[in-house]
Amino acid sequence: EKDGYASFMLKEIAEQPKAVADTLLGRIDGSGSLVLDEVRIPANVLREVDKVVIVACGTAFHAGLIAKYAIEHWTRIPCEVELASEFRYRDPILDQQTLVVAISQSGETMDTLMALRHAREQGAKVLAICNTNGSTIPRESDAVLYTHAGPEVAVASTKAFLTQLVACYLVALYLGQVRGTQWADEIRAVVRDLSSIGGAVERVLETMEPVRELARSLADKNTVLFLGRHVGYPVALEGALKLKELAYMHAEGFAAGELKHGPIALVEDDLPVVVVVPSPRGRSVLHDKLVSNIQEIRARGARTIVIAEEGDEAVVPYADHLIRVPVTPTLLQPLVATVPLQVFACELATARGNEVDQPRNLAKSVTVE
Ligand code: M6R
Repeated sequence: EKDGYASFMLKEIAEQPKAVADTLLGRIDGSGSLVLDEVRIPANVLREVDKVVIVACGTAFHAGLIAKYAIEHWTRIPCEVELASEFRYRDPILDQQTLVVAISQSGETMDTLMALRHAREQGAKVLAICNTNGSTIPRESDAVLYTHAGPEVAVASTKAFLTQLVACYLVALYLGQVRGTQWADEIRAVVRDLSSIGGAVERVLETMEPVRELARSLADKNTVLFLGRHVGYPVALEGALKLKELAYMHAEGFAAGELKHGPIALVEDDLPVVVVVPSPRGRSVLHDKLVSNIQEIRARGARTIVIAEEGDEAVVPYADHLIRVPVTPTLLQPLVATVPLQVFACELATARGNEVDQPRNLAKSVTVE
């Protein structure tokens, strides 16, 4: 039931801090090490893995895109991410040392299922990240790491996405742990940060009223663009997907570095552009480049909606609307930066009179190829 919320989507957005915490529960021990015995792929097999291939669709694919950064950073194992619907048609190169990760909320998505069957036929090991106990994808995989989001009813995926991210980080960190990478200290620190991430998501949810107001004021727009870089790029794609499926608007996500290669021609007076800004700490070069991008599009008339870390003052002069998110390690930022985009799409769709839980033409699980 909706527990007093106007929609399942709003309820599920609100449940995210708990969903994130539940997905971590029991998987980190007192010393900060990961305990993933439930992943029944023996450590010696994981040590031999020389390539990770992630297959998924829609929102789960966006989680996979983010996972690539984490896996390659913490393990130095090359990682590819592919739309499940494209995967088997290009005769991908797979063998016993390939770990295929299939991400699916429902566990019934036919495209993802066909991709994992193909991978297993080629001898690859398949690990499912799934939210639905006993569904087909985990049953047909070598191993499964369940997300503990609880049932997700709204067609637009929200809490499942955040828990898919958590599961992906756990897999990346676990691979790093069993392989004993040079990042041991960073891994321990990130595990600590992950433990408090539910609180950060909670804080974001408490500050969403201006986002709702902004969304209502944009209800008559035709187009919204989303920009990001690094892990902020898949966040931009996810923000655009939410807006397409709920508000039926033209929404596109771009890697901000690509702007100058074409998309900047789309910018016109009063076009809303959402920009996901990386932390000024860590990868500060990327941060500064994003700030330049914001200046460029604003000079061409864009209405800039900036998602930036608390304390990032450099963005202030160029943000027509500023949405603050808590300070997090770079790779974890999608857990907090996606939330305002979910709220934005939900509110904008509602203001346009759309039914947010059941968008037109869409089904919760897509069981045809
Ligand atoms: O159940 P799955 O995670 O396999 O579903 C994949 C996509 O169909 C799903 O994420 C879809 O894109 C959502 N409606 C997005 O909100």
